[in-house]
Amino acid sequence: MDVVTTSAPGKAFLFGEHAVVHGEPALAIAISTRSFITMQKRADSKVNILAKDLSIRNLQVSYGERGVEFDTDYSSVQDALAFVRLPMQAAFADAGKEIGLDITTTSDLLAGTGLGSSASISVATALAASEMMNLGWDNNKIFEVCRETKFKVERGAASATDISLATFGGVCLYRKSNKGDTTEKIENAPPLPLVIGYSGTAGKSEEMVRHVMRLREKYPEEVSEIIRAIGRISLRGAKAVAENNLAEVGELMNINQGLLDALGVNTLKLSELIYAARQARALGAKISGAGGGKCMICLAPEQELVKSAIEMYGGTPIVTSISKDGARVEKHKTSIEISEESKKVLGV
Ligand code: PMV
Repeated sequence: MDVVTTSAPGKAFLFGEHAVVHGEPALAIAISTRSFITMQKRADSKVNILAKDLSIRNLQVSYGERGVEFDTDYSSVQDALAFVRLPMQAAFADAGKEIGLDITTTSDLLAGTGLGSSASISVATALAASEMMNLGWDNNKIFEVCRETKFKVERGAASATDISLATFGGVCLYRKSNKGDTTEKIENAPPLPLVIGYSGTAGKSEEMVRHVMRLREKYPEEVSEIIRAIGRISLRGAKAVAENNLAEVGELMNINQGLLDALGVNTLKLSELIYAARQARALGAKISGAGGGKCMICLAPEQELVKSAIEMYGGTPIVTSISKDGARVEKHKTSIEISEESKKVLGV
């Protein structure tokens, strides 16, 4: 194969963020917004990565006597590129050889918003590499390769919830474990009326996760109770989703939010958006992801009303739906593929 395009979805948390890092289950959804990878064989042996939507956080430019000076946190670029580089390394190791490739990444997911752009890029890369080199990786293998990538990049202060949703799609109950993570897909989950609200600032997941870890060390019994309670909410929430009991899903989201607030990951802006959404008759509203900025999510049968409320309080509403598909191949092209034009000429 000479060219392949793959894609994988972003994610949002219905229940269980933070608690999931401590071994409790989380219920998350794959969203319809995706990242795309195109891989094309090169004549030489170079691997060239063109990250079209890679935003560079903390890019600082100053003008001084010595002209333009850059003060950029290049480690964030390194981290972002590792989501492509590490799955590629795993694929080359499996194939027993390296080939030259042009890899282009594009994403409709804004980096740093907590909607899983890095995870989806990583999963789409693994699938494209497997297709390109005929490795036959199934979803479980892709999940393992990208889980390892994520834990290396985030130095262990993370779960692989986003990797799981990018790989398997739909609505999944995910649990992190030393004995092997588990993902249970809720088959026939109903199409939930959801609205995501971006608070306008990109929080740092690792910092927020370490904050909760420190809080747990300081108040082991109290914080462990909160974390366990969140885990129970994820399980009960999974049942409510499967039964299409929207009122209960919403109530549980609100309880989950109270517990996230207790863990200290809320911000004034997120709080404003959450209360605005509830006032606009959302059945439930909470942070989605690490908090400290990024996004909130609400269950809102009256989507337009909630969208306006989020806008009125300075957030950016994102109306989304659940993507049943996880990672998928979008397009294939081989050198022996006959174009439509040639087919006409050849009469085939
Ligand atoms: O907002 P995000 O995508 O960074 O979500 C982080 C969710 C945490 O549970 C806090 C960490 C994790 O990796 O699960």
